[in-house]
Amino acid sequence: MNKCGLILFSGIVPALSGCAGIQSALDPAGPAAATLFRLIWSFSALCLVIWMLVIAALAATIVRQPQARPEPLRLNHRHDLAAQRIVAIATLLTAIVLVVLTLASFLANRSLAAIGNEPGVTIEVIGHQWWWELRYQNDEPSKIVTTANEIHIPIGEPIRLVVSSTDVIHSFWVPSLAGKLDLIPGRSNILTLQADTAGIYRGQCAEFCGAQHAHMGMLVVAEPRPVFEAWLNHQLEPAQPPRTASQEVGQHLFLIRTCVMCHRIAGTLAGGTVGPNLTHIASRKTLAAAALPMSRGSLAAWLADPQGIKTGAHMPTSLLDGDELNQIVAYLEHLK
Ligand code: CUA
Repeated sequence: MNKCGLILFSGIVPALSGCAGIQSALDPAGPAAATLFRLIWSFSALCLVIWMLVIAALAATIVRQPQARPEPLRLNHRHDLAAQRIVAIATLLTAIVLVVLTLASFLANRSLAAIGNEPGVTIEVIGHQWWWELRYQNDEPSKIVTTANEIHIPIGEPIRLVVSSTDVIHSFWVPSLAGKLDLIPGRSNILTLQADTAGIYRGQCAEFCGAQHAHMGMLVVAEPRPVFEAWLNHQLEPAQPPRTASQEVGQHLFLIRTCVMCHRIAGTLAGGTVGPNLTHIASRKTLAAAALPMSRGSLAAWLADPQGIKTGAHMPTSLLDGDELNQIVAYLEHLK
């Protein structure tokens, strides 16, 4: 490899390796993301070629010696004709490029629409400031699973997401799996999501929606069908009853303090629907819309100072002493 190639290569490889990962449109893991990936690269490659041609023409003009013109006011028909031809060719090429790009967009749109004509799983995704409510649809109301911020899907199947919002406009975006779609209050939009590789993908709200827009993340866990079904069946079960004295007190505190006003824990008297459903909160990998990893420490920190972690979030600071905090955390971390 020559020196120039080496410089280019050493620049591109680290730059592109930064594009891999669980939240990257340049690292597709499903058919929709792959279609968009091809579209991004074809646009970028074509634009790069055009840019290089323009720069080459500019360089040639700068380098070339201007012809000596003893009488600058005299018309030069040959010169004018050549200039006209160049402009005509450039206009034609521009038109062709526009048509090619439009066609590429149209074809990409068509293949996006072709994904998932018969989805097996339908999930309602409801945007809230600043978290995601998820409802797995079922014809039997008792089999509807409600959870938050962590979407489990079976691999290799188109998943139908019906997205809407209760407050402001949000935007659902899991770059590794599909394009963006807005969540609009009073309206339902449909997005098809498909993951072909098992794994965990990160998503992010992609429309500014207030103070904690940046902390409105989510995870998509793509897994084989049997694992997904086991997860779904487990989510349908009511919460684990407390096992230790500490968990027992924790549950009691949960039910007599403000927690109960906003959160639901199936199998208890807590039936709030303002905040995330906590029936199986400890089975999730993150807390506070992917702002914190799920752990005892995170739960305690979030309960003790939600406003310090997500300023402006609708979760109020609860007035708990150290023992009470420990007991509620003991109860919540037991809700697998
Ligand atoms: Cu929700 Cu940004």
